[in-house]
Formats: sequence, structure tokens, C-alpha cells
Amino acid sequence: MTDITKEFPGVRALDGAQLSVEAGECHALVGENGAGKSTLMKVLSGAYHPDAGVIILGGSVQQVTSPIVARKLGITMIHQELNLLPEMTVAENIFLGHEIVRGPLRWLDKRAMENKSEELLASFGQKLSGRTLVKKISLAQQQMVEIAKAISVQSKVIIMDEPSAILTDRELAELFDLIGRLKKQGVAIVYISHRLEEIFSICDRVTVMRDGKTVHTDQTSNVTQDQIIRLMVGREIEQFFPSQHSNPGGEILRLESVTQRGKLHNINLSLRKGEIAGLTGLVGAGRTELARVIFGAEQADSGQMFLDGRPVSFRSPRQAIDAGIGLLTEDRKNQGLVLSMMVRENTSMASLVRLVKHGFVDIRAEKEATRGYIRDLQIKTPSTEQKVRNLSGGTQQKVVLAKWLFTKSRVLIFDEPTRGIDVGAKAEIYQLMWKLVAQGIAILMISSELIEVLKMCDRILVMHEGEITGELKQAEATQEKIIAMAMGLEQPASC
Ligand SMILES: Nc1ncnc2c1ncn2[C@@H]1O[C@H](COP(=O)(O)OP(=O)(O)OP(=O)(O)O)[C@@H](O)[C@H]1O
Ligand SMILES: [Mg+2]
Repeated sequence: MTDITKEFPGVRALDGAQLSVEAGECHALVGENGAGKSTLMKVLSGAYHPDAGVIILGGSVQQVTSPIVARKLGITMIHQELNLLPEMTVAENIFLGHEIVRGPLRWLDKRAMENKSEELLASFGQKLSGRTLVKKISLAQQQMVEIAKAISVQSKVIIMDEPSAILTDRELAELFDLIGRLKKQGVAIVYISHRLEEIFSICDRVTVMRDGKTVHTDQTSNVTQDQIIRLMVGREIEQFFPSQHSNPGGEILRLESVTQRGKLHNINLSLRKGEIAGLTGLVGAGRTELARVIFGAEQADSGQMFLDGRPVSFRSPRQAIDAGIGLLTEDRKNQGLVLSMMVRENTSMASLVRLVKHGFVDIRAEKEATRGYIRDLQIKTPSTEQKVRNLSGGTQQKVVLAKWLFTKSRVLIFDEPTRGIDVGAKAEIYQLMWKLVAQGIAILMISSELIEVLKMCDRILVMHEGEITGELKQAEATQEKIIAMAMGLEQPASC
């Protein structure tokens, strides 16, 4: 790709970007939120038409005018915001557009597609029936289905836009294995990630983007992580994890024997004012389900929850929000944001009560508050009036954060808060979390990134198959201990 330029109203997303990828290579594309990574790849995969620039594939100039053309050329993109059809099965999604047919009447061969899907998924360690509806599977599994879809069409170039953001270490290992095999088959892979360690373990070369330009390309063996960070953000990040100590106060939230059939067993937990408690475990361990029960999005079958010592039961998220509980969901596209609405409307959505004056929303106050968050969280948007759909993935995550900060909740549950967030902004979010706990807010942080959990949490709760299997204090916690508990290898400690 040479001299690719792409403008949107008020934003120059790409400014003469260059990228060259070889067959059999895994090429990393890195850069801050909003640097232009996804846009450049959407140009390559035919979703966007560049204003200028040339794409050369296998030696000849190509006009990639649509995703269909891209597919014919052998270019497949796995989007950052997954693109599956929730009401269709895993097999239907994988074979959408290249269905297997049978006989002269070209009947859809469902059985064959299901078998083939399961085979494709099994080839990288995924046990998943082809007949399951996509809406019933986790985000991580959806990611795996997207990958199976990409390999089912025999692509020459596969673009993975932050595939690892929602995967746990085990799934990640399987993905890396698969990438190794694809490379041997001569497939070119463009790999976008904010987790730089990954890039050094699987990518041959790396291209760094900054403000729509590609500023550097090199062999990964020639550069260090610090050099890449400097190229990305143009400054050094000294204190990545702020070394602060919290000073927890009294208990604010308590769960006693909370059980939800088939999902949560006998959950006991207590959260204190001014602390960050971590909740970790493998995908499917029940962390998100637990968050949803606390937030009133789902109901427990038995057990009791207490807020400030008083028994509460929330029939809906509205009731939980009114009581001072916020949930930043892992699935921002479906649950965290209304993509067709503006940054301003998304920010105020859960706090409108506070903005209503004489029956109308006070738009001036709404704008002012939103501007404050745009400044504090460094949300990269041309204005408060930009539609959230047009923001980069990580920037959208910051808008979800702004929404919950604006509610002034006393208990905040953060489900994978730094997913898709660039290194610089991550450090800012960590700082912000410390500021919140200093004000007495209690944070329950769900995260699969063990380093983040180890550094940020006063206490770490580990879940395995719907149960809390252990609790570790920050001082005694190690990656090994957490992993052992997450896999159910250790006896429950005192919770
Ligand atoms: N359809 C669009 N309309 C308007 N602006 C857009 C559109 N798509 C992208 N942009 C803007 O282009 C810039 C680059 O966005 P892009 O999504 O490529 O960033 P990114 O590098 O992928 O970031 P992230 O790491 O957060 O995913 C951002 O400022 C974004 O808001
Ligand atoms: Mg992106």
C-alpha cells in the first residue's frame, strides 16, 4: 500500500500511509488509539475507498472497491468490532457467501457445513458445535468463529484487528499456533494489537502508525518495546502502573451465597469503599455473569446482596444505577454504547436525571460535562457531536468510561476496562482508577490481563466454573497462583 490518504469530515484518518507485507510473514501494525490502523486495513479490505494511494497485490495494481472484491483477491479482515450475525448458527456464519451446496438443485448442505465448521474450529483447539446460535456464545468464541471464517476461504492476506483483546492466555496460545501454521502455508498476516509483548513473540516485522502516517517499519528483532512505545506516543511513559496504596474503608457491597442456576454457585464476596478488587478467571468462568447479577441485568435464583449493610435486590439495571452501581461492560458495541448517537448523548445517557431542567435536558450543561471528559480522558473526537460509530475502537471504550464516571456511581464494576486501549491511555486509565478509589469509590475490576490485575488490585478473587475458588492479597499473589486457581487446581482459600 503506497501513499494512502483518507479523510472524514473534520478528520484526516490516513495521511500518506505506507505498508508492505510479504507472503508467509506476520506483520504487526501498532499505534495509539485513533492512529489510523483500522482505517488503513479497511481500505485494504475494500470497506473504505481511499482518497489517494495505490494498492499492489502480488505485483499488480488492484482496485479493491468492495469487501466482495477483496474476498475474490484473497484478502480477509477480522474486524475489531466483530461482525457476525447473532441470529444465525456458527456454521451459517462461517459459510455465509460461500455456502456448500449439493445436487443439481444446489440445496444448501447444512450437515456438510456444520461438520466442516467444527473441523475448522477444532484445527485450532475450539470445541464448538456448528449448530449453536452465535448470540449464545461468548465474545471470545465469536472471535474464534471469525477466524474460522477467514481460514475457510483460503485467504492470501488475513488481517486480524486486535484479535487478542478478548482472548485469555490459553486461547491466545491456540491462536498463535494457528498463525504459525498459516505463515508456513504462505499466508500474509497483518496483526493489530495494543499488547506489545505479543508482537515480539509472533510477528516478524512491525509498522508503527502515528496520526495517520506510518512512521517506522522494522524487524521486531531490531527494536525494543520501549523504542516502539516512543515511536507510537512520542514520549516515554515512566510510571506505567502508579505505585499507590489504597486505604480501604468500610464494607459497601456484600454478596451472600448468591447462586444462579448453571452459572454461579454460592458466591460470597465483600467489597470495601476505596479499594480495587480484581476478579479474574478463564473465559466462561462466570465473571461477566456475576457482574450482570450485581447490576440487576440478570436475577439470582437464591442468595442475598447488601449495599451499605441493607439488603437490596435489583430487578433492572435502572434500579442498580439509581442505587449507585455502574457496570462498564466488556461488550461495548452491543451493551455499552448506542453507536448511532453522539459522544455527548452517550456520555450523559445513564445520568439524564441530573441534567433535566424544567422537563428538558440542559444541553449546555451536557456539552460542558462531555467536554470535561473529552479533556480528562483525552477522547480523540472532533467534537462532542461526533457519532460514536465514527470513533476508533479504543476511543469508543473511553466514551463508555466517561458515561460511568458521569453517573457518579459509588460502586463501579469494570469488565475488561483497558481492552483495546493503547499503552499511553492505559496508564491514564490506571491513574484515574486510583483517583476514584481515593474518593472512596469501590471498584471491582474484571480482567484477563494478569499483569494488570496483579499491579492494580488490593485483593484478587479468582473464579472457576461459576465459583470463587480463591482470594489472594496483592502481596501474596503471583501469576502461577492465579492460573492454578483459575484452572481449578487449588483448594478454595478463605474468601
Ligand atoms: N467512518 C468514519 N467517520 C469519521 N471518522 C472516522 C471514521 N472512521 C474512522 N474515523 C476516524 O479516523 C481516525 C482513525 O481511526 P481508526 O479507527 O483507524 O484508529 P485505530 O488506529 O484503529 O485506533 P484503535 O486502536 O482505537 O482501534 C480516528 O480519529 C477516527 O475517529
Ligand atoms: Mg482500530
